[in-house]
Amino acid sequence: MLRRRIRTIALLFCVITFTMFLFSYSLWDPSHFFFKQALHPKRPCSCRHCLTELDDDPWFADHLNRSIHPLMTRENSVLSEETYKWWQSLQSVKQRANFSEVVEELFQVIPDEVLYMDASPMRCRTCAVVGNSGNLIGSDYGDLIDSSKFVFRMNHAPTRGFEMDVGTRTTHHVMYPESAIDLDNDTRLVLIPYKTLDIQWLISALTTGTIKQTYQSVPARIKANRDKVVIYNPTFFKYVYDNWLEGHGRYPSTGFLSLLLALHICDEVSVFGFGADQSGSWHHYWEDNHMKHTGVHDGDYEHNLTSLLVENHKIKMFRGT
Ligand SMILES: *[C@@H]1O[C@H](CO)[C@@H](O)[C@H](O)[C@H]1NC(C)=O
Ligand SMILES: *[C@@H]1O[C@H](CO)[C@@H](O)[C@H](O)[C@H]1NC(C)=O
Ligand SMILES: *[C@@H]1O[C@H](CO)[C@@H](O)[C@H](O)[C@H]1NC(C)=O
Ligand SMILES: *[C@@H]1O[C@H](CO)[C@@H](O)[C@H](O)[C@H]1NC(C)=O
Repeated sequence: MLRRRIRTIALLFCVITFTMFLFSYSLWDPSHFFFKQALHPKRPCSCRHCLTELDDDPWFADHLNRSIHPLMTRENSVLSEETYKWWQSLQSVKQRANFSEVVEELFQVIPDEVLYMDASPMRCRTCAVVGNSGNLIGSDYGDLIDSSKFVFRMNHAPTRGFEMDVGTRTTHHVMYPESAIDLDNDTRLVLIPYKTLDIQWLISALTTGTIKQTYQSVPARIKANRDKVVIYNPTFFKYVYDNWLEGHGRYPSTGFLSLLLALHICDEVSVFGFGADQSGSWHHYWEDNHMKHTGVHDGDYEHNLTSLLVENHKIKMFRGT
């Protein structure tokens, strides 16, 4: 009799504890994985919003093609003739190098890995794509940017002296030879190649330092962790131009290419430092350079696409000051 009573009380205690645990969990964060998964067993990720939820958005589903991998591997580096021709026409620099031989040499210097294709209901990869706009000045976004799992920056993008507004962490630094800078050991270098020579430059810059010139002088060597270097896939580059820009401009800007990389490898994307500041002025947050925002890029078209991504809740845009 007593045993039975003890057992009943113990059971009751367990049930109450468990219920309280669930209740406090749900109060603490109603979007918590446990509940969302229980309510929607097929959610593609465990974040508050998953940009990978395609079903409800035909426009997005129409543009996005997940079967094209954003980063180069030995296997996906074989380019179609059409892609190769388009890619080689972007920056005409005299060159006779054999692309597949250069790629082979590349993967003797950097690892050949398939990265980030691990989307799952358990994953919540939050990403901040940080552009270089002057609208970051006085924005106080530093902590918000640093709280993302991945932080993408591009070209010169300094953080020292701007920590309050741009943050301190950089997990991925997107650059090309003409915009290259030294990186921390923990930061991944993401090279956007516009020509075979750019890949040759990377090999050289990480080893012998013999290439000092493309169409302008470039750093002979850069500090970067070789084990963390990745290359933007030319096939993906062309996909961004065809599927997203639909042929507008000569080729996509670094900002737009970085955004599309994030769209393909992250579950939640927040965008900072894109566009003009409130006075309509285009300049970098660290210098007083006044630029035209078009040129080889169709800035207006890219801006429209970015706005559509915001309207369709695929990305969050932080407009700064
Ligand atoms: C996605 O890209 C692959 C490889 O280029 C292609 O075969 C496929 O048809 C594309 N899918 C869509 C829906 O466009
Ligand atoms: C490039 O090199 C590969 C392997 O060495 C060779 O099979 C191929 O024919 C070369 N391509 C050109 C265009 O020379
Ligand atoms: C950089 O990181 C690698 C691991 O990726 C490590 O082996 C190496 O010792 C680090 N170098 C420095 C200078 O910290
Ligand atoms: C951008 O969108 C606006 C409003 O929808 C439109 O008037 C404009 O022509 C678009 N610009 C480009 C370059 O497509």
